[in-house]
Amino acid sequence: MRIEVFKTAEEVAQAAAQHIRNLLDRKPGAVLALPTGSTPLGVYKLLGDVDFTRARSFNLDEYVGLEPEHPASYHAYMKKYVLAHINLPPARCHLPNGMAVDLDAECRAYEEAIKRAGGLDFAMMGIGHDGHVAFNEPPSSLACRTRVVRLHEGTRKANQVHFPEGESTPERAITMGVGTLMDARQVLLLATGAGKAEILAKALCGPVTAMVPATALQLHADPIIFCDAQAASAVGCL
Ligand code: PGA
Repeated sequence: MRIEVFKTAEEVAQAAAQHIRNLLDRKPGAVLALPTGSTPLGVYKLLGDVDFTRARSFNLDEYVGLEPEHPASYHAYMKKYVLAHINLPPARCHLPNGMAVDLDAECRAYEEAIKRAGGLDFAMMGIGHDGHVAFNEPPSSLACRTRVVRLHEGTRKANQVHFPEGESTPERAITMGVGTLMDARQVLLLATGAGKAEILAKALCGPVTAMVPATALQLHADPIIFCDAQAASAVGCL
């Protein structure tokens, strides 16, 4: 496991952006799993000079029941914070369809699409306060695949800030499974801020368990962790 601790969140973003730059230099057609959330925002801003025209991306997750045009949907996030900054052709940017009539069929189709693209070369992710990666809330089998999940109250509360007043975070989402993510040839976890210190320590140093889905990283062949000093502050196994 490669763990790099930076002084600030800005430096974490720079390192992650450089990592993606190097990856696409080596493999311009790389298949990337991309996260939403607050942590990666700084990364996407720094990728304007990278050529994504031959790359392909698959988002980690999407809410069930939100129209792609809804400002808090991850479709909208990708449009605003990613596709507006980088030259990834929109048709090469894939998200699960949370409006699908048959959600289980949508999950199977998403897994199939990743497989058809040649599998994930790289998966970038944040970590939730309860140890979730993508929307895999505890307990999540470390082998699980793309599926519909029920979000925990804490997760819904944390994401409430992205919703207009009077609207609450949806109860369900489609998420890549822990197994789907860990099949990526390389995984990069980003964690910033003191609020992530306790869970990051559990994820990296604690027992591998479905109760902390991020512990699956400990079993991966090529996991990388970029974090700031605050998030690393409780990681005793460094
Ligand atoms: P955040 O979310 O980047 O907004 O903290 C991380 C996550 O929930 O995976």
